[in-house]
Amino acid sequence: MTAEDNSIYPSHILTIAKNTQHLGRLNGPDASSYVKGPCGDEMEFYLIINNNMIEEVKFYTNGCVATLVCGETTADLVEGKTLDEALAISPKQVKDKLPGLPLDHSHCSILAVTTLFRAIADYLLKP
Ligand code: FES
Repeated sequence: MTAEDNSIYPSHILTIAKNTQHLGRLNGPDASSYVKGPCGDEMEFYLIINNNMIEEVKFYTNGCVATLVCGETTADLVEGKTLDEALAISPKQVKDKLPGLPLDHSHCSILAVTTLFRAIADYLLKP
């Protein structure tokens, strides 16, 4: 994670960043993805899927606090959901769950949701 000025974040965002439940990688996931954003931040998603249900989600990022909390919020939104329900989430929904996210970090929610969608595509498009 790059060094940054954490004073730009409201305390509830820093609390989420310090208490992530989904940060990490999975061995032998049913689906995985990697996306590097134009800012250079990288994100990975790992999914365990059973009967079209996302049973477990992990993500990993080397990005800033905003990227971290967007990954965590995205993972939280879709764990326990069907693939169709997961495909219906949006970056706006992630941002709305993170009031006070600095405007110039809005794209972090796009990176998180894009990486999730790519993992789902990895699963759905498997031959
Ligand atoms: Fe670029 Fe967060 S700063 S994804």
